[in-house]
Amino acid sequence: MSLHLEEIRFRNFRSYEFFSLENLGGLTVLLGPNATGKTNAIEGIQLMTAYGSFRNPTGKELIRWGEPSAQLTARLVSETRDLTVQSNIRPGARTHMLNGKKKAVQNLQGILPSVVFSPDDLVLVKGPQSHRRAALDLLGCQLSPSHRIIKRDFERLVKHKNALLKNDAPRMLVESVNDMLAPAATQLYLYRAALVEKLSSRMAEAYAAMAGEEERIEVSYVASWETDAVREAAQTAPMKFSYGKEEARHALDEAMAARFAEECARKRSVVGPHHDRIEFFIDGRNASTFASQGQQRCVVLAWKMAEADIIAEMLETSPLLLLDDVMSELDIVRRRALVELLGAGTQTFITATDPTCFDAGLLDSAKVIELGRQRLWDR
Ligand SMILES: Nc1ncnc2c1ncn2[C@@H]1O[C@H](COP(=O)(O)OP(=O)(O)O)[C@@H](O)[C@H]1O
Ligand SMILES: [Mg+2]
Repeated sequence: MSLHLEEIRFRNFRSYEFFSLENLGGLTVLLGPNATGKTNAIEGIQLMTAYGSFRNPTGKELIRWGEPSAQLTARLVSETRDLTVQSNIRPGARTHMLNGKKKAVQNLQGILPSVVFSPDDLVLVKGPQSHRRAALDLLGCQLSPSHRIIKRDFERLVKHKNALLKNDAPRMLVESVNDMLAPAATQLYLYRAALVEKLSSRMAEAYAAMAGEEERIEVSYVASWETDAVREAAQTAPMKFSYGKEEARHALDEAMAARFAEECARKRSVVGPHHDRIEFFIDGRNASTFASQGQQRCVVLAWKMAEADIIAEMLETSPLLLLDDVMSELDIVRRRALVELLGAGTQTFITATDPTCFDAGLLDSAKVIELGRQRLWDR
């Protein structure tokens, strides 16, 4: 039997001095007016399952103002297991424990994964590339500890390289960091490109279910080592790339050598997976610039559904679905597609300001929590 979230507790987390939810079932609905902590609660649950937050906060932002640290505790239960995970967040450091023993994040990610749906997801299509890379990495980290380790190693080395470039260090020094960085950069590229491949086909299915078969969605992953001309072309039309490990490493090495002078002049690294691009296309046109708001919403919803699908398949466990304030802004078709996903035996948390946005029957079996008032009750 797979694990579910049985209990969650926050101490000095965001707006909460103390918060706890217990006896959690298949569906929990958090209701409350604006600024009552609904999104904070979703974020807290995401932090204790995905070990990341869609808001990409610093530690300091997560700690209740005026307090030195925040504690989050979750109890994950199945028929055969009973796990307590605890995170302690201080401004510069986070530590985690599983049943009282200290654990690295990569050993907790994937135990009970989660996927968040939020109105802010629109930045995935409309916003800067960094959001797409971060979302892809968070998915990768939930799927495999190596993704996180490689990403961490790569980021450390890039930081080191940038510091050298900033201080006009001798070429030999920068090149020796390039040699260390290249294997991690290549591996991160390979992980991400493979994930995008998977996402792409699932997104096409999810998108077709919402928008109809006649609109076609495609996703490309474009490496930093492509020439400017190719990268530009890849923004106007979908392009497929296929690099094996050796080819990818070779292309990366070549690009780092070719653009060495540019990196020195700009005093920062310009080649590596931190500059890779993810492009979405609807019927061959770039969705960031050409899609309507409605189509863009469909793209992000399809991405999230694809995430849930991939997690369920690869980890053989349904991810928690965390739906923050999304029901009210979806039309009937997309709401139905989403509710269908909920029907698949997944544990779900939904927030809303207005209970009337739910289809009749959905709330019947739910545990309903009202925030911002004193009253709590089960239904
Ligand atoms: N670190 C923090 N300490 C105290 N309050 C915070 C912190 N971070 C956010 N808040 C407050 O939490 C409140 C509720 O946020 P949120 O969960 O987004 O509300 P909702 O989703 O219900 O509209 C906001 O008013 C915000 O100022
Ligand atoms: Mg909110």
